[in-house]
This record gives sequence, structure tokens and C-alpha cells, in this order.
Amino acid sequence: RIAGPSGLVIFGVTGDLSRKKLMPAVYDLANRGLLPPGFSLVGFARRDWEHEDFAQVVHDAVREHARTPFREEVWQQLAEGMRFVPGVFDDDAAFQRLRSTVEELDKSRGTGGNFAFYLSVPPKFFPTVVAQLKRHGLSSGETGQWRRAVIEKPFGHDLASARELNQVVHEVFRPSEVFRIDHYLGKETVQNILALRFANTMFEPLWNRSYVDHVQITMAEDIGIGGRAGYYDGIGSARDVIQNHLLQLLALTAMEEPASFHAKALVTEKLKVLNAVRLPADLATHTVRGQYAAGWQGGRKVPGYLDEEGIDSESTTDTFAAVKLEIDNRRWAGVPFYLRTGKRLGRRVTEIAVVFQRAPHSPFGTTDTQELGQNALVIRVQPDEGVTIRFGSKVPGTQMEIRDVTMDFAYGESFTESSPEAYERLILDVLLGDANLFPRHQEVERSWEILDPVEEHWARYGRPEQYPAGTWGPRAADEMLARDGRSWRRP
Ligand code: BG6
Repeated sequence: RIAGPSGLVIFGVTGDLSRKKLMPAVYDLANRGLLPPGFSLVGFARRDWEHEDFAQVVHDAVREHARTPFREEVWQQLAEGMRFVPGVFDDDAAFQRLRSTVEELDKSRGTGGNFAFYLSVPPKFFPTVVAQLKRHGLSSGETGQWRRAVIEKPFGHDLASARELNQVVHEVFRPSEVFRIDHYLGKETVQNILALRFANTMFEPLWNRSYVDHVQITMAEDIGIGGRAGYYDGIGSARDVIQNHLLQLLALTAMEEPASFHAKALVTEKLKVLNAVRLPADLATHTVRGQYAAGWQGGRKVPGYLDEEGIDSESTTDTFAAVKLEIDNRRWAGVPFYLRTGKRLGRRVTEIAVVFQRAPHSPFGTTDTQELGQNALVIRVQPDEGVTIRFGSKVPGTQMEIRDVTMDFAYGESFTESSPEAYERLILDVLLGDANLFPRHQEVERSWEILDPVEEHWARYGRPEQYPAGTWGPRAADEMLARDGRSWRRP
């Protein structure tokens, strides 16, 4: 699938995301031959740059962060289609320049009037940018041309603000023209959840309350918030990660089989299951928030959150969050889904563990079955991508001793193909107009609806519990599971 004639305009081109992810992804797509020859990249920002300065910035970003090897001829072809438009968002003259640039590219590069506008800017600027795109005739092309808006998270701060943003965006772009990024959906291992479940027969019969004891979804990071204080403080881990990535992982894990692998069918099933998600009544015992204190990580002493540059020393922002959710439907009634995420945890790992019930009876009499844990199927999202199945096995010897063993599938061993970076896949899909991997506004709003009561509860009561950097989060997180007779996995 190769994109047709098109161009990409990035607002917020001087930001981290743009440099680390978007620019390298564009180059990698070009290098893999997935972009049309005349593909063009336009940067828009408040900088006094010429086209060449912008191209140099992209060049450096590509050299540092691209996945594929640097090839001069690919670079040259791409660089010829790079343009920079200096300006601020409420400047009409700047948007006029943008319009002329787009028209010039249509003529010189054959972009065909097809442009995606990537809003890699804080949400407070969305209304101005989309209004300007409309005012300057950029939001809709001529017949046969397409215009699309790509929107980065955070998509709002709560349900009310997300609704407002959706309204603002939909006043200018049709719902089918809006692509909301949740980059977790662009990850191979996340797409594989549906393949694992619905391209096979052996898992789905067990994938329900008759066999599953509970599900744990973990997204742990070892990094702190270094350099991102402005974005992170006041947002926190639950809004940053649970509202989007983890609820999407939950939806894919718990949803029914979609009628087809198309955006409409997928969103129907994801929404259905998100609508069945319920928070426990007692939020004090079923949610946990934490904040990292100074500690050791990788043999290095690291500062606590409150000592990070740019963080208010009284901040109550959560850098760790855990919640217990129930799903009120026939498949999952009574099966808790535990979600947790945090910065400065033991190590970087994202996984979904489906933990099965214990065998109802052990025929092995007096032998030591203490070791016999619960069977589990673990989808290893990253960094060691694959799937693990854990089950009990007889320990070689004269006794009937059972111990847990694992069976592993690793991407690296089974496939020679390399996984594209999530942003590569998502940018290509935007250019192709394929919306399968993009959450719809209803999902975004429903996810806020789930999280809002938690945030409101936290805002009213207490402070986050401190946990030393390099550990697995606050004690309360362990207690939350212990009360249910369970424990978190130590990946
Ligand atoms: C982003 C969050 O969405 O995901 C960041 O805003 C987080 O706080 C990042 O670090 C993690 O992404 P990945 O792909 O490295 O797991």
C-alpha cells in the first residue's frame, strides 16, 4: 500500500514529538518506498527559518532517530519537497503563505491538492488552527482532492473539554476527515491482539469469565518526566496514559469479534465494551495514585518528581496510577481488569496479562503444589515483543512436583520482517485515508467519562503516595490487589 500524491503539513514542528517521531517516520516511509515521489513536507512554526534551515532540522532528526539506514538519494528527493512557513497561529498572513505554499507544491511536486494537517500542538491551539485552516480555504480541497486533520493527544482534559474540542474540529472537518492519534494502536504488538484472538481458535473459547480470573494491563516506564514538565504537570499519568493507551488496550482485549477489520466495525465493538466498563463504587480502595521520590535507577541516583526542573514543589500530579475496572457484560461479569502505569518504575515494559483461574482440583495429592501458579497468557507489547504462555509442568525427578514454566513467542525469532515504528504506520494510514487504527470521538469521550470520576475523587482527597524511583510504585497499589487475593506481576 503506497500513498498517492499528497503532502503533510506539521503545526508544532519545533516540538519534541515532531523531531523524535514524525520527521523520522516520514523519512522511513520514503525509504521503504511507501510515499509518492512528489511527497512534500511543510513545517509551520514561529521561527525565523528558511526552507533550508527546516530541511537541516529534519535531516538532523532523521540522522538521529530514523529506523532505516540513511540513503542520500532518498533524502535528496524528500528534501526537495520540504517547505517552511514561519508564523503564529492567529496570523492571517502566515496562513495565506501556507496556502500559497500548498498551491506551489501542487504545481511543482504534483501533490494533487491532497494534504494532511498534523496538529502537534497543545489543545488550546486547536480552535485557532482549525478556524484558520477554514478561513484560508485550506480545510477543503476541490472535487477529488482530500484534506485531513491529524490530532495529537491530549484530546482534552476531561469529558467536557474533549466534547468542546470535538465540536470545534467537527465544525471544520467531517468526522471521516479527522484522525486522532493514539500511537499505541500503531504498534505491531497491539494490532496483533486482534490477530491472536480472532485468527485462531485456541484462545477465544477460554477468553471469558468461565476461565479468566482477572486481567492486568501494565505500562511501566523507567524514564521520569525530564524536559516535559510543562506538558506533564497538572495532567499526570492517568490522563496521559490510562485515558487513551490503556483503555484502548482494554477495549482490544475485551471486545467482541468485529464484523470486519474496518474502522466502522472496529469502533462499534470498541465502543460497546467501553460502554460496559464500570468503575467500582469505592474509589478510595480501588484506585491508587503515586508520585516518584528520589531513588536509584540503572545504578544512577535520580531526583524525585518534586525536584524535577519546572515542577511546582507542592504539585500533586500523579506519576503512577492504578485502577480496577469491571466490565458489565456476559463475557466479563465479575472479572476485574487492573490497569497501572507509571514513570520511574523498575523497568520499561508494557504488557497485557490474561490470568486464568486455578485448576479446580489437584490430583497430585500431597506433593508440593505451592509452586503451581495460575496459567497466564501475556501479550508482551514492548520492549521484548511477543507472547508468553505460562503453565505448570512436572519437574524432572522421582516426585510429582509441579512448577511454572513458560512458552514464548518472540517477534525477532519468528519474523525476519522488521516492525515499522507506530508513527510510520499511522502517518501512512492518514495519507491512505485508512481510519482503522484511529480512535473515534465517541471512544475518546467515553474514555474521559470513565476516568473523570477518578480524577475528581483524587482532586478532593489527599495527595499521591510517594514511591522511590526504580521500584514498582506505591504500596497502596500492592494493597489494592492483595485485598482481592491477587498480586501484580513483576515483569
Ligand atoms: C505518550 C505519553 O503518549 O506515550 C508519554 O504522553 C509516554 O508520557 C509515551 O512516555 C510512551 O510511549 P512508548 O511508545 O514509548 O511506550
